Amino acid sequence: MESTSVPHGYSSPEIVARYRAFFQAHGHTELVGSPLAVPGNSTSFVIAGMQPLLPYLRGQQLPPSTRLLSLQRCLRSDDADAVGSNGRKNTFFFMLGNWSIGDYNKGDAIEMALSLLLEDFALHQSTLWVTVFAGDSELGIPLDETAVEHWLRLGIPYERIVPLGAEDNLWTMGGPGPCGPCSEIYVDRGLAFGCGLPTCRPGCACDRFLEVWNLVFMEYERFTDGSLAPLPQRNIDTGMGLERIASVLQGVESAFSIDLYQPALSRLNEQLSEGNRQRPDLSMPVLPVTPEVRARRVIVDHVRAALFAGLAGVLPGRDGCASVVRRLIRRAARQGHLLGLQQPFLNELVVPLAQAHDAFLRVEERAQVSTLARMIADEERRFTYVLARGLQYLAHLEPDQQGHIPGERLFVLHAEKGFPPDLAAEVLAERGLSVDWSSYEPALAEHRRISRLSAARHFGL
Ligand code: GLY
Repeated sequence: MESTSVPHGYSSPEIVARYRAFFQAHGHTELVGSPLAVPGNSTSFVIAGMQPLLPYLRGQQLPPSTRLLSLQRCLRSDDADAVGSNGRKNTFFFMLGNWSIGDYNKGDAIEMALSLLLEDFALHQSTLWVTVFAGDSELGIPLDETAVEHWLRLGIPYERIVPLGAEDNLWTMGGPGPCGPCSEIYVDRGLAFGCGLPTCRPGCACDRFLEVWNLVFMEYERFTDGSLAPLPQRNIDTGMGLERIASVLQGVESAFSIDLYQPALSRLNEQLSEGNRQRPDLSMPVLPVTPEVRARRVIVDHVRAALFAGLAGVLPGRDGCASVVRRLIRRAARQGHLLGLQQPFLNELVVPLAQAHDAFLRVEERAQVSTLARMIADEERRFTYVLARGLQYLAHLEPDQQGHIPGERLFVLHAEKGFPPDLAAEVLAERGLSVDWSSYEPALAEHRRISRLSAARHFGL
């Protein structure tokens, strides 16, 4: 079980208060109230703290100040299936950010970040590693020697400065938009968190080196063809995930065991010992964490994401952001099934989660919590029957001669039993089976053709 201690001064609200006070003392103005869902865009949630600042970063609008800070609610679900297998990836998270809109430079950003971590957060300098952009000849950007010099000047030894390529250290929004070389700060959590490989260092997939802060030197606009053009001004864009820094400062195992999750984890533990648990099915292959730990993490993470999506007005549904919420609730429900929990159970985690986040909720949001819990319960209840039947179907699927499950079988499962194909693929992956998707689309096309024909016959067309 993951531990629960919160050292004095480092509860999540206290960490935010320290961050805020530090950057306010350095002349930053706080931007408040940017919503989780992009207004007028029902297809995507806010994925980074910088997103609401796009017009300022692009020089299209005058910012209220050239020094800004925020605590932004973000939701990234593209790799939701990786949640829980490591201790650092949350779907919903709070991003602490400070920005210079053509104001201070790289050296100032690095100096302020280090000062906050070492002085206000009392981290040991010897535990800090950093990465810098190694350069990219195709993009015509050299190694970021300036960043290296600043880190050396501030006492980070050469052997703890790691150059990484564009894939890691050219920060983009995942597509077109403002971007730039970045320098990330990692905390070495120690051998006990690591893979033990001699090559283990920042950038390794294990949990030993935890990236806590990304300093982006945002100087370019990236276009759809991947080409770059300079922005009208040189900006600084930083992002520090609250859950990650809290896991370090609270001395707990993972970003799922911080104070913001504890009441929900306690309730989940009660549910698991309340006797309404059927025989758990934890026969998944061995992961870096046990299937039970992973399941608990996924459950609390996804319910939290559904809660904050609901507070932003996004309820489970078929399309866009709504479909993301539906998928998260279904994934969480399935993890409960693995733990042997009778459903619905997710709704009982909503109030403990909301209570733990009280300092971050507005008055009108607190009033919505019990309604959202009921909606999550309804969604889970609707899915319970589908889940049981779908899992039964999947348990009997045998791979073809190439060792794959034909995609058309997943199409049939979806068309006849309403079971989502992506969740089916995840369930199969846990059995070591992969899906040959090439037969999925033809099965869908054939289904549509037959539906059209029968509609035409029915209406005498
Ligand atoms: N924009 C910096 C980050 O999200 O890491």
